[in-house]
Amino acid sequence: MSGLFVAFEGGEGAGKSTQVARLDGWLQEQGISARLTREPGATPAGERIRAIVLDPTSSLTPRAEALLYAADRAQHVETVIRPVLAAGGVVISDRYVDSSLAYQGAGRALSLPKVRQVSEWATGGLVPDLTVVLDIEPAAGLARAAGHRSPDRIEQESLAFHERVRAGFCELAAADPARYLVLDASGDPDELAGTVRGRLAPVVRLLAAR
Ligand code: TMP
Repeated sequence: MSGLFVAFEGGEGAGKSTQVARLDGWLQEQGISARLTREPGATPAGERIRAIVLDPTSSLTPRAEALLYAADRAQHVETVIRPVLAAGGVVISDRYVDSSLAYQGAGRALSLPKVRQVSEWATGGLVPDLTVVLDIEPAAGLARAAGHRSPDRIEQESLAFHERVRAGFCELAAADPARYLVLDASGDPDELAGTVRGRLAPVVRLLAAR
């Protein structure tokens, strides 16, 4: 049996890192050690790409932005994600392909099929077993994120941009319910974590029994 790949997605301030940590804690209780990772910025090259894409002084065209995220992802998949999965391990990523489809596709209004094509090429077609979308009202999420630090280049985008991103995530999930779990991120974090655990329990039982 190959490993398990779970991605967490959502707008700014949706609480992804909290839910990644909750899932990791539960897996540890079952004796499973997961590789926690994120996009952009999980590799040395990716950290440099992250600095460019999030720097408010970077002047990037939408296509250049999309390709930088794709480059980060290509490096991430080949050097971090695939080796763990090939060894039968569990990978939990804070963002993955759907972020490019939502932010660059829906947000920047680039062609969705093109962004999908670039992402597929970057990942060699690697798709998560489950993608959890933490759905949040953009105004509430941005306010939550603003509490932590000054807004980065993407957070500085208009509310309309973030509304398109949110709609983009919801459309992706609606098109493939078997591979997505959409949660109302304004809910209680414990309850959200419980729903994620419930969804993953059957496969985790198999992993723990190996
Ligand atoms: P975060 O890691 O703190 O969530 O920040 C990453 C930012 O980059 C966030 O605003 C979403 C954005 N992003 C994209 O626009 N496209 C992508 O493909 C990814 C992975 C992130």
